[in-house]
Amino acid sequence: MTLQSVVLLFIVYIHQVCARDENITGYIGQSVILKSGVDQSWNLTRVQWSIYENTTFIASLNNGKINTDRFWRHKGRLELNPKTGDLTINDLRLDDNMIYSVALVNSNEAREDAEVNLTVQERLMKPDIQKAFNFTKDGQCYIVLKCIPSGENVILSWTPVGVFNGSYISGSPKSKDSILLISFSGNRSVTFNCTASSGQHNESNQITVGCTEENQKPEVCSLCSSCTSMVLLAIVITAVVFGLLYASKGKKNLLYIANWA
Ligand SMILES: *[C@@H]1O[C@H](CO)[C@@H](O)[C@H](O)[C@H]1NC(C)=O
Ligand SMILES: *[C@@H]1O[C@H](CO)[C@@H](O)[C@H](O)[C@H]1NC(C)=O
Ligand SMILES: *[C@@H]1O[C@H](CO)[C@@H](O)[C@H](O)[C@H]1NC(C)=O
Repeated sequence: MTLQSVVLLFIVYIHQVCARDENITGYIGQSVILKSGVDQSWNLTRVQWSIYENTTFIASLNNGKINTDRFWRHKGRLELNPKTGDLTINDLRLDDNMIYSVALVNSNEAREDAEVNLTVQERLMKPDIQKAFNFTKDGQCYIVLKCIPSGENVILSWTPVGVFNGSYISGSPKSKDSILLISFSGNRSVTFNCTASSGQHNESNQITVGCTEENQKPEVCSLCSSCTSMVLLAIVITAVVFGLLYASKGKKNLLYIANWA
């Protein structure tokens, strides 16, 4: 066995061990699926979902029989998938926020346990998009956009609406960056889409931006007070302006600065 394969196996092992402890976010009034994470080859004979330290059962599968009304708290809101052992909680409430345990048994009497830590939040909202700054240099329009999610545990991604034939200096599509820094030629506008994803739900918002004649000089627009990384943003903007205006190899330095930021 080579060193690489040992490392690889170790990573796979770590990944599997960690995967048994899931964190998931759900939203009030919506549904969430708690994954049992069971091996797909397993033929499940028993599944027991429970809550609290005293193992209060809420849903079970026993020899083909499903019972999802075992405890008042989740009564009438649960669905148990007998193939996968996944538990769906419908019409989420804030107090569904807790750790869920599952015990799984297959036809060979092998047993597995897993835990899912469910965080319940207010409904996922559209992210807020702000133009942090824009200016023109040598016929190129540079724009910095910032996407602000409404909650926590949200993954952001940027996509152009239609064809974008300019370049990404920082925050290319699918990069999960909240800040997007783009440049393109000409006096036109582009539209970008920021999607906030909680894993099971998506909400997106769009912004159309361009460089206008009045905006020849760098101008930092006012940012909302909820901006947590304003200082970082200020550093990025300062660094970018400096890089663009004074560096001899502007683009190269810009890339370096953008990556560093
Ligand atoms: C288990 O704990 C919960 C919350 O602490 C409590 O409401 C419930 O009555 C307990 N069940 C048993 C069987 O003790
Ligand atoms: C924005 O992106 C999301 C996710 O890729 C997509 O579902 C949505 O249709 C896009 N909206 C527009 C206007 O392109
Ligand atoms: C990008 O699109 C604009 C407008 O459609 C066009 O004027 C420009 O030449 C294009 N640039 C490139 C590099 O294709």
